[in-house]
Amino acid sequence: MTEPTMTELPPPRSPDADTYSLALVCLGNICRSPMAHVVLEHRLAEAGLADRVRVASSGTGDWHIGEPMDPRAASALEGRGFDPTLHRAQHFDGDWFSAHDAILVMDDNNVRDVSRLASTPADRERVLMFRAFDPAAGQDVELPDPWYGDQRGFEAVLVIIERTTDELVRRLAAR
Ligand code: 4NP
Repeated sequence: MTEPTMTELPPPRSPDADTYSLALVCLGNICRSPMAHVVLEHRLAEAGLADRVRVASSGTGDWHIGEPMDPRAASALEGRGFDPTLHRAQHFDGDWFSAHDAILVMDDNNVRDVSRLASTPADRERVLMFRAFDPAAGQDVELPDPWYGDQRGFEAVLVIIERTTDELVRRLAAR
């Protein structure tokens, strides 16, 4: 199952809210979603949107709760000038739906696991693929999991994350 590319961000849950709230979700919350979290917060701050968009990340698995991100992810981020040190892994549960306007997930398994915890169809519609916003994505909009590979896999994933984040920030700024 894949989303078509260039999906729209869902509207805010509350029309008069002055912040938009994004959750980034992967399996362990130590590789992909924390990298995306750090890059997105950094770029939002550069765009002057730090007060208008809130970002959080979590994993559908609970094995790494409280841990910092994978050292390979941290190293890739540092190499590009981002600060990976503040991250601590969190676990996704159904309460995340009520706290977020959009839930951006990294692969099809994440879509399944997150959607299973949605209590309404409207909540389920807030679950989108992160790479649905990647202007260079093809038909496959999964973000590969670099956990099983080497450092180069993390660098490659970071390129995709940076490109996708630029598009997300452009859309958030236009709101
Ligand atoms: P992530 O990668 O979902 O991008 O954080 C993984 C991290 C840990 C595990 C799997 C994937 N794990 O099996 O512990």
